[in-house]
Amino acid sequence: MSMAKAITLSDTTIGKKVVMAVTGLVLYGFVVAHMLGNLQVFMGPEQLNGYAKKLHDLGPVLYAARAVVLVSLVLHVVMVVQLLSRTAAARPIGYRLKKNQTTTYAALTMKFGGLALMLFIVYHLAHFTFPGVSMAAGYKHSATDVYANVVSGFKVPWVTAIYVVAQLFLGMHLYHGAFSLFQTLGLSHPRYVEKARFVAQTLGIAVAAANIAMPVAVVAGIVK
Ligand code: HEM
Repeated sequence: MSMAKAITLSDTTIGKKVVMAVTGLVLYGFVVAHMLGNLQVFMGPEQLNGYAKKLHDLGPVLYAARAVVLVSLVLHVVMVVQLLSRTAAARPIGYRLKKNQTTTYAALTMKFGGLALMLFIVYHLAHFTFPGVSMAAGYKHSATDVYANVVSGFKVPWVTAIYVVAQLFLGMHLYHGAFSLFQTLGLSHPRYVEKARFVAQTLGIAVAAANIAMPVAVVAGIVK
């Protein structure tokens, strides 16, 4: 009797890369939607809290969307761990002389930046959502006043510093991630590669800048 197991797409290196690309796209979409939602902080407490209430009122639809994002994040991380251990197994003995080329520079940024983002996401969820912890002395986290949660948190300089640094990692991750995706889609042809790089960079910088603007606006007293 044969013990051979059927090989599925996600067992292959290319399959894992496809899963990385698809889940990366879902996560990118979440980051952009989340950013657009959060930017309503500039329109005042009624606007931001009204938006948060609308989302919470979606009930099961919101939970379904959360599940899609969570599953995407887990798959994205599981696939990269499997790809990296496969790479390590393919060359168990390290190189005597290792010169980093540009691709390994991007790969390193993705690896360690990705790890930094994981830590940020855990911290960020604890801060605002699960369970929701006040970072400011004398303030109690509110389940409905998202605006007050945001403003009180970002008034604390070290909290704002964590958010700003995390957004720099996020911007780099979005840039390299989108650029890899474009390459997977065949845009690495010399005619398009610099355009693809420009688009990926511009989007990464725009998201990081918009996300940094929020905590900085609170520290600067523009949002209060
Ligand atoms: C300065 C930028 C950001 C601000 C101001 C911000 C703000 C918030 C707030 C206020 C909540 C809780 C919403 C509520 O209680 O209804 C939240 C939830 C969340 N944030 Fe952010 N966020 C930022 C950046 C990010 C980034 C970069 C990521 C991921 C890479 C992220 C991932 C999440 C996730 C996964 C949740 C939970 C969503 C849910 O409860 O369904 N956030 N954020």
